[in-house]
Amino acid sequence: MEAGNTEISKGIFLKNIIIRKWQKKDFDNVQIVLRNSWYSTYDFIPKDDLDFYLSQKYSIEELEKLYYSENNICYVSEVDTKICGWLKLTINENKFFLSSIYILPEFQRFKIGSKLFDITIQEALSNSFKEIYVGVMNKNLVALNWYKKLGFEFFREEPFQMGNTKVFHLIGKKKL
Ligand SMILES: CC(C)(COP(=O)(O)OP(=O)(O)OC[C@H]1O[C@@H](n2cnc3c(N)ncnc32)[C@H](O)[C@@H]1OP(=O)(O)O)[C@@H](O)C(=O)NCCC(=O)NCCS
Repeated sequence: MEAGNTEISKGIFLKNIIIRKWQKKDFDNVQIVLRNSWYSTYDFIPKDDLDFYLSQKYSIEELEKLYYSENNICYVSEVDTKICGWLKLTINENKFFLSSIYILPEFQRFKIGSKLFDITIQEALSNSFKEIYVGVMNKNLVALNWYKKLGFEFFREEPFQMGNTKVFHLIGKKKL
């Protein structure tokens, strides 16, 4: 859908960033994006719990269900043919959720997340939603601050179970 160069302050360029709807051939790479970004982001959760959650919620069978589900819209980001990010948008109970956004650690801070967020806004508006909801773990301060910079306001805390670990989630929304 979108291609172009992006730059970070260090002057490093990423060329040929493509954002496109995901395809069935992407499932393995989406699992890799999830596993690697979770390990580095959720270092406060034991790896066994992350692996358990991954195998339960994001097995190939579950990804296939997601792929055919009418309530979910997923995109990948690709740099020089390498899948480096995944976006999942979910429509549930007449609300529009940015339900997952994960960029491989080595591709973070190259504005790929911002490009995926632009797509999120386009999808929300084209589905006639005026608000976007997110959930983010309290301890994930980088993402929490990133969402705040994008204009999200957080208004509720909810427990969230990952394997044997209970964490807390903040629910936020942004008006469009
Ligand atoms: C949060 C995330 C989606 C943002 O995407 P991104 O492509 O890295 O972010 P962008 O390049 O668009 O925006 C960069 C800004 O995000 C913040 N940011 C992103 N990664 C950061 C990091 N590791 N440390 C500090 N700030 C960070 C900073 O505010 C940064 O601005 P700056 O570079 O001007 O300082 C991405 O970093 C990511 O996948 N993180 C791990 C997984 C995660 O937490 N997902 C959200 C779960 S709810």
